[in-house]
Amino acid sequence: MGENWQHERKNDPYYKKAKSEDYRSRASYKLKQLDKKFKIIKESNTVVDLGAAPGGWSQVALEKVGEEGIVVGVDLNRIKPFKEENFYGIRGDFTTEEVQQQIMDIIGGKTKVLISDASPQLCGIKNLDQLRSIDLINVVIEIADNILEEKGNLVMKVFQGPEYKKMLVDLKKKFRQVKTTKPPSSRKKSSEMYVVGLGYKKNKKID
Ligand SMILES: C[S@@+](CC[C@H](N)C(=O)[O-])C[C@H]1O[C@@H](n2cnc3c(N)ncnc32)[C@H](O)[C@@H]1O
Repeated sequence: MGENWQHERKNDPYYKKAKSEDYRSRASYKLKQLDKKFKIIKESNTVVDLGAAPGGWSQVALEKVGEEGIVVGVDLNRIKPFKEENFYGIRGDFTTEEVQQQIMDIIGGKTKVLISDASPQLCGIKNLDQLRSIDLINVVIEIADNILEEKGNLVMKVFQGPEYKKMLVDLKKKFRQVKTTKPPSSRKKSSEMYVVGLGYKKNKKID
């Protein structure tokens, strides 16, 4: 990371806010803003957070679900434990069957909310990065199909690429409402977008 990046980070209002309010990452504010707008997570929900480290989104999810809910965070990197006992951390690759089975075992096969801020390892070659990103998103959608309850909600980060439009068309068949948005805390120069699916329609087959 260059000096420029460090300077930018230090002057970033959301970075400062996260430090002063004890959030693990500035990304926490993205989920807070999305949740405020779309009412994604409710008290006592089960939430699965894919690509969760260092845990900023899981932290917000824990606040929202309260003591009666469950939050499962999965990441290739270690997620430092939370003091809350209803947080379950899994260190591993969520694209693998083994990790997906671990998630299933903890949640008993179903969840009300699936959130994913996962970013693939980017190599800087645009076409390759877009493919990696789409692959990861497809896995998130596959997991959603396996574990989301009827009327469940999904939030996931996407990078716009060639398959973006088709992905949205497919999602619109699976959810009552699909919104694409960029929360104010997402950096303007980042090409990331967030897709919010509200009201999952279980057993809706897509041809
Ligand atoms: C932007 S960070 C998530 C930040 C998090 N939402 C927060 O608020 O702290 C993206 C994460 O996705 C994780 N990731 C990417 N691919 C993954 C995979 N296949 N399995 C598990 N984690 C993955 C990365 O390790 C990285 O920690």
